Amino acid sequence: MSTLRRVQALAERFAEDTVTNRRQLHQQPELSFEERESAAFIARQLHSYAVDHRSGVAGNGVIAEVSGADSGPTVVLRADIDALPISEATGLPYASQKPGVMHACGHDAHTACLLTAVRILSQLSDTLPGTVRAIFQPAEEKLPGGARAMIQAGALANPRPRVAIGQHINPTLPTGSIGVRAGPFMASVDDIYLTVHGVGGHAAMPQQLIDPVLIASHVVVALQQIISRSSAPETPSVLSIGRMVANGATNVIPPSVEMAGTFRTVDETWRAAAHKLIRRCAEGTAAALGGSCELRIVSGYPSLYNDEALTSRIAEYAAEYVGPNNVQQLPLTMGGEDFAYYAREIPGCFYNLGVCPPGRLNKPDHLHSPRLDLDEAALMTGAGLLAWSAIRELQLTE
Ligand code: NI
Repeated sequence: MSTLRRVQALAERFAEDTVTNRRQLHQQPELSFEERESAAFIARQLHSYAVDHRSGVAGNGVIAEVSGADSGPTVVLRADIDALPISEATGLPYASQKPGVMHACGHDAHTACLLTAVRILSQLSDTLPGTVRAIFQPAEEKLPGGARAMIQAGALANPRPRVAIGQHINPTLPTGSIGVRAGPFMASVDDIYLTVHGVGGHAAMPQQLIDPVLIASHVVVALQQIISRSSAPETPSVLSIGRMVANGATNVIPPSVEMAGTFRTVDETWRAAAHKLIRRCAEGTAAALGGSCELRIVSGYPSLYNDEALTSRIAEYAAEYVGPNNVQQLPLTMGGEDFAYYAREIPGCFYNLGVCPPGRLNKPDHLHSPRLDLDEAALMTGAGLLAWSAIRELQLTE
């Protein structure tokens, strides 16, 4: 039997366990940085598969390794394990048992797939010309994220892996299909907090005041012009102010206005330049109108760049695994993902696993929705393709 068939047969044999693991995690979701039980569950499963692992990496991270007989290169497979502060509304029999916490981004599926991939690989270690390192990473959903801490704790050291591969469910892609995109794939995420200061007072006597509401309005418009006039039109960027609180009254101009928003792009050079422009624009606009503006930019995840060569190989492995007609090109998204940190250190590829049942393609679910329900039939593909990609990468001769 070919190695591909062996992987597929094992993925099928472990399909039921993969679903059971996913449901177990789904019922007991834990918020970012609080994934103690999830980490313990992962460690128990790895132990039952007799796979070497260490827990407590950067808090609740777990790292497992499967090695073949020959020493060779190392390849990283990464899953995230945390859940979101959302009240589940699916009504499923295995819905979250924790009020207000839900696996609404599929990290339960990512973890279950990676567990099974590790199990498959441990059964095929005779075919492994190297080592597969599985990273179960905490806290993807909340800044500063778990990826950077995992890297600082040595997740990409001793030895340095050749590549990092990550998988995310996509509820708009049909079950059995895979989505890939080479190059820029996901955006950097920066939070912007602004306070515009003026002089408050009676709304009927503006000549005595410095109106921060008017200044804040100018700041919002001026910030939009940075995006339209200072970024290259071919570089996607978005700046949105989602919070603007003046808190005066019909006849009261408040002394200050609070604002907050997000800035996202896919080019790190432009991102750094934009931070300076945003500051200059907000401070300068406020000063020109007699007020002042305090500004704080909290830098989040960098943009996610999928290595071209690796991504074209992953597309090839996916075509071998699910058939070329089931591999789709994905559009760029302005969502963020801390897998970007691994992909900054070594060549990385983050791809999507279709989890939409055929009957729901016209009205798909969405990530972070309280009704997110994924087709568990897709988990078999998710687990098997991770294992297959790792084997194929290790078989590459440099
Ligand atoms: Ni996610």
